[in-house]
Amino acid sequence: MRLAGKTVVLCVTGGIAAYKAADLTSKLRHAGAAVRVLMTESATQFISPMTFETLSGNRTVVDTFDRNFAWEVEHISLAKAADVFVIAPATANVIAKAAHGIADDMVTTTLLATKAPVVIAPAMNTGMYDNPVTQQNLQTLRMRGFHIIDPAAGRLACGDTGRGKLPDTPVLIHGIERALTPQDLAGLRVLVTAGPTQEAMDPVRFLSNHSSGKMGYAIAARAAMRGAAVTLVSGPTALDTPAGVQRVDIISARDMYDAVLSRADKQDMIIKAAAVGDYRPAQAAPEKLKKGDDALTVTLARNPDILAALGQRKRPGQLLCGFAMETQNLIDNAESKLRRKNCDMLVANSLRDEGAGFGTDTNIATLLFADGRRETEPIMSKEALADVILDRLIALRQ
Ligand code: CTP
Repeated sequence: MRLAGKTVVLCVTGGIAAYKAADLTSKLRHAGAAVRVLMTESATQFISPMTFETLSGNRTVVDTFDRNFAWEVEHISLAKAADVFVIAPATANVIAKAAHGIADDMVTTTLLATKAPVVIAPAMNTGMYDNPVTQQNLQTLRMRGFHIIDPAAGRLACGDTGRGKLPDTPVLIHGIERALTPQDLAGLRVLVTAGPTQEAMDPVRFLSNHSSGKMGYAIAARAAMRGAAVTLVSGPTALDTPAGVQRVDIISARDMYDAVLSRADKQDMIIKAAAVGDYRPAQAAPEKLKKGDDALTVTLARNPDILAALGQRKRPGQLLCGFAMETQNLIDNAESKLRRKNCDMLVANSLRDEGAGFGTDTNIATLLFADGRRETEPIMSKEALADVILDRLIALRQ
């Protein structure tokens, strides 16, 4: 979690979504961030400064003219303390002021003084949000490098339906973390596969494997956080779609083949973390198979090898990363897979290692490269390994 140890200056401005900033404050603290809350006076009409004081463990600074004389100094010290500066919810008014450098209260003077990355989460009535002047102000802020979190669409407090809702806390947290993360994959398209495949025997039963999807989902999440446009082609898993990732659900290896191959050409990196079933029942029975007294023999047919197909049609500049999970001869098997499937990199892990394999939150991997280099990683979280894999792929591009 990038938020641990970071100081978030959270400015709450006056809209009905101000109450949601309380949950954001709480979740940011759970993630290990220090939160300093600033409120406009109108925000205090919607929610009490005391709420934020209790949740953040810090004094809430409110804009009033009867403030103590130290505020000139305070806004500078808060501006400097911020690792990231967040305005959520941001009204049309504060967005307009920010776009034009107006500094007439605590929030806007601190904003003008900060050098930290700024995240703005607009929330307002649809008409106000869609108004060309608000859109133009947001565009001005985008061009200055502000991170704008687009509002969600839905039924608004005023009864209108449309864009303007403050997104849920996880989306806000993702936007804040992203502002703190170097965007070294910006402009790149990354396709990740994850999870198991299921190969139907009949309408009730299937052949599958123990893959949880955690490794692939971690890669997709980190790639999106680092700025890539990520497509996650996923077999059935119990995991939530990572923020900012476009997910395509598939069931069988043949579904995955179609989903991946049809999207492959435009990808800059393809990372095949999925545990694809090599075989499927040759014939899926149309009706439920009834048991008899004898043993049942099922004939299996070979599934297409997606990674090998990708390796054959790889275009110049495209990077292909495969995975190998083995129970014996890890490196020899992995090396032969890397060559056979024309990968640039292969992530090998052994099911025999404690802390690696299906369903765990950690992994132990050896990375093998097409030029013969090998790198053995210590045990680490799947999230940390995801970053290492992405670091190495970026290095291969250069
Ligand atoms: N893979 C794939 N399509 C398949 C099978 C595997 O794309 N039908 C990919 C996996 O996503 C993974 C890599 O190939 O990235 C390794 O899979 P594995 O089944 O271990 O490779 P095989 O060459 O089939 O190896 P084995 O000889 O162990 O069966």
